[in-house]
Amino acid sequence: MIRLMVNDREVVSDLPPGTPVVDLLRGQLRMHGTRAGCREGDCGACSVLVGEVREGRLHYQLMGSCMLPLGNVDGRHVVTIEGLNRAELTPVQQAFADMRAIQCGFCTPGFIVALAAFTLQATEFTAEQATIAVAGNLCRCTGYKSIQRALDVVVQQLEGIDLDDRVGWLIEHRFLPEYFRDMETRLAALQPVGVCTDRGDTIISGASDLLVQCPDETRAADLRFVHHLPRLNRVEVVDGRCHVGAALTFNDLRHSPVMTRMFPDLDEYIQLSGSDLVRNMATVGGNIVNGSPIGDQSIFFTAQAATLVFSRDGQTREAPIREFFVGYKTTAIEPGELLEEVVFDVPDEHTRYSFEKISKRTHLDMAVVNSGVRARIVDGVIESASYAVGGLGATIRVMEATEAALVGKRISTRTFQEANEAAQGEITPRSRPEYKRLLVRQQLFLHLQRFAPDALGGEVLR
Ligand code: FES
Ligand code: FES
Repeated sequence: MIRLMVNDREVVSDLPPGTPVVDLLRGQLRMHGTRAGCREGDCGACSVLVGEVREGRLHYQLMGSCMLPLGNVDGRHVVTIEGLNRAELTPVQQAFADMRAIQCGFCTPGFIVALAAFTLQATEFTAEQATIAVAGNLCRCTGYKSIQRALDVVVQQLEGIDLDDRVGWLIEHRFLPEYFRDMETRLAALQPVGVCTDRGDTIISGASDLLVQCPDETRAADLRFVHHLPRLNRVEVVDGRCHVGAALTFNDLRHSPVMTRMFPDLDEYIQLSGSDLVRNMATVGGNIVNGSPIGDQSIFFTAQAATLVFSRDGQTREAPIREFFVGYKTTAIEPGELLEEVVFDVPDEHTRYSFEKISKRTHLDMAVVNSGVRARIVDGVIESASYAVGGLGATIRVMEATEAALVGKRISTRTFQEANEAAQGEITPRSRPEYKRLLVRQQLFLHLQRFAPDALGGEVLR
């Protein structure tokens, strides 16, 4: 049994906790505004808002209900398009109607819900930010120009929003219905049923992978939910080591003040991983234990030469991430183990991180080749380097020979050439080898150029 708020009413469901929320909405509750399109996190037609009280404040996030298990919304507030509708169109709906941003209408509820998330979360109300907010929503009819015009109108209407009383302002200006006003109190009074957190054959956190890869098996499985365990949601520095909880989502990581202080470009890098719809659900731990050879966060932590901390039956075990990926989607995790946290050395003022990713589309796409380098550089000389590359074969590749070729060298054209020679010697790309070799070379160049912009000129690539 799961207890939650759906729009303005309390719902108790006896569906299995691994059931995707979209099936509760469309099946049991007969609310058909939320569409089941791709069921893979790619189209945004199933978008809902998920609200919870965090640090004493009601906080909403956009999520894809096709990838969201019921167990993850126990005690939370789910808002669908029906929960935004009223007798008159909201300003967002009116903008879509006025700008002819609707044709068949299949995608429209998803866009409207994504823009509701934008009104509730954004700190900058620009057309660019509004576009990013709907980046996970696809439309097959409009060609997007009319949607873009609707976004411009929405942004204009949000001018003057009162960020100290955001929900009050949005209700007053008809963006949100009245029931949002007391939702914090109602949610605090709601008694979640409490999903299992300490046993179960299948561990589930964000579920953005399991419910896409094997939805039927996941629904039927004996699940152990870990997304809300505080120890798995921390980012903390202790004695010069940074501890990142495995249940942290990509967006948690991206918005963590601790992380962004250490890695000022992290926000830019993580924006290359999916859309908000996915980033609000996909977790650090899921990205690692999935064992994908192109996991963007796995690249990040491999380049940090991080240590993985696992637990099982009250015991913990540590293992280096650089030795964790052993085959295609195969890792050195042992049966019954839970990845608790990822731990790495806090970078000092000489240490930098650089990430590069090439994919068919800049955003919302899987990498063809991605790579990350963490290097300690003192007076232009590389004192240490940790370099990971994805997309070349069955696992993420730790580039040991290239690291050795970089250490002790001043960043220069010659260092790049020697390091590239080492890199080309230690890779054997499985598919499109010439193309991937070229990408490794170009990305290595960009990493070094980012570390020392004046030391490398583009002519070396010609
Ligand atoms: Fe396409 Fe969920 S149905 S993202
Ligand atoms: Fe038809 Fe967007 S209006 S898919």
